[in-house]
Amino acid sequence: MGDQKMRRELFKGLNDRFSGMKEVIRKSLEARKFAYCPYSKFRVGAALLTHDGTVFTGCNVENACFNLGICAERTAISKAVSEGYRDFKAIAIASDMCEHFISPCGGCRQFMREFGANWDVYLSKPDGSYVEMTVEELLPASFGPEDLQMKKANIRNEF
Ligand code: THU
Repeated sequence: MGDQKMRRELFKGLNDRFSGMKEVIRKSLEARKFAYCPYSKFRVGAALLTHDGTVFTGCNVENACFNLGICAERTAISKAVSEGYRDFKAIAIASDMCEHFISPCGGCRQFMREFGANWDVYLSKPDGSYVEMTVEELLPASFGPEDLQMKKANIRNEF
């Protein structure tokens, strides 16, 4: 492939990816409208892009027993996993904060990390602007499923 053609293809690829993610962010903003948050009144939406291009959305769902509430990200991931999807490319998160990019809570970072550290998280604002990070950047030096397979000391020889 010639240099110029290669550049064009690369540019097209980046552009496709860019417009694709804009659409996923739009879906997270839409999902936010379904938030059930009578207690915090803090609406959050998420849109999860899977390996084959399927998008699962989610919103936060609170409960009168406060600690039972679930975040938007976990709703979206649970919907995807319960339909057989475990391979994720990106997740977009949206809230109503107009001056801050919504950042996932620690529990959601760990929930994302279960399905790999090397995928993208888009933190957005209601105007559609966003910051792109990876799960690894949001949760460095993380604990994951691989750790459960690591060699263990014999507990009978414990100090
Ligand atoms: N929340 C999310 O859904 N995702 C986040 O990343 C941050 C917090 C929800 C939980 C709760 O319903 C409300 O926002 C206020 O904390």
